[in-house]
Amino acid sequence: MDQKLLKGKPVTEAVYNRVSQNLAYLKEQGVQPRLTVVLVGEDPASQVYVRRKGKACEKLGILSDTVVLPADISEHHLLDKIKTLNADSRNHGILVQLPLPANINEEKVIMTVAPQKDVDCFHPQNVGLLVSGNPYMLPCTPAGIVEILKYYQLETQSRHVEVVGRSNIDGKPMVNLLLQKNTSANATVTVVHSRTQHISDHIRRADIVIAAIGQPNFIKKEQLKEGSVVIDVGINRIDADNEKGYKLVGDVDFDDVYDTVSKITPVPGGVGPMTIAMLMQNTLTAAAAQNNIKLPSE
Ligand code: GUN
Repeated sequence: MDQKLLKGKPVTEAVYNRVSQNLAYLKEQGVQPRLTVVLVGEDPASQVYVRRKGKACEKLGILSDTVVLPADISEHHLLDKIKTLNADSRNHGILVQLPLPANINEEKVIMTVAPQKDVDCFHPQNVGLLVSGNPYMLPCTPAGIVEILKYYQLETQSRHVEVVGRSNIDGKPMVNLLLQKNTSANATVTVVHSRTQHISDHIRRADIVIAAIGQPNFIKKEQLKEGSVVIDVGINRIDADNEKGYKLVGDVDFDDVYDTVSKITPVPGGVGPMTIAMLMQNTLTAAAAQNNIKLPSE
């Protein structure tokens, strides 16, 4: 086995075991967790992600619905649909797949999802709880990255983690998770982004680099400290001479950095599968909270 590769699969298995225990417990209490995923339009990548979310629910025994809405739906109609889902007590989690068509204000959509059902941890109330150190829900991809680091016994405590990218989905919540006061976090975190000067100087000081930029093969070996750990959040489609006509690559140039790093997540098969595993956990967290139940393992 390649000792350098931080594969997501064994980590998802450990998470799914925990989720299954929690699910059995909720069902014993008469609660049948349900997740609704809303997909607006026909973006091919979003269609793939939404399908995977439904499949993960099915495999575990979580009820799920996928609501597919046309790309030209008005913002008003979409917000109404979300309000209906908020009011349905059989439905515990709501996820609106991003990105949304340009005519729809993403922030309004995020604000409309009931905080208790916000399994993405995007609502300002849930972001606020995370920032203040008392999270209700953990953001899926960042929480999945913490699970990977824990599983492979890569300490973040007192180490320098560089987060590359400042998106609301990945970079910013990653920073907030790593700043939590617990032994799975306690990191010294710095962030670089598209307006940072001398970006490489910062990245080269880090023990752990978390790349969430959305630019294929952006990070090269010259930018990394020898022996650093690299977590690659990027999933970029680039043209390729194969049947599909494309292949997936990360934000880090894997082949270029391979000899420099001590550990690295592959793309695909690294961080990607973690997001859905954590979404399953969040669905149960939401179902438990809405029924005043404390889960046995979180
Ligand atoms: N689009 C890309 N990643 C995500 C995610 O984690 N949640 C949602 N809702 N949309 C996304």
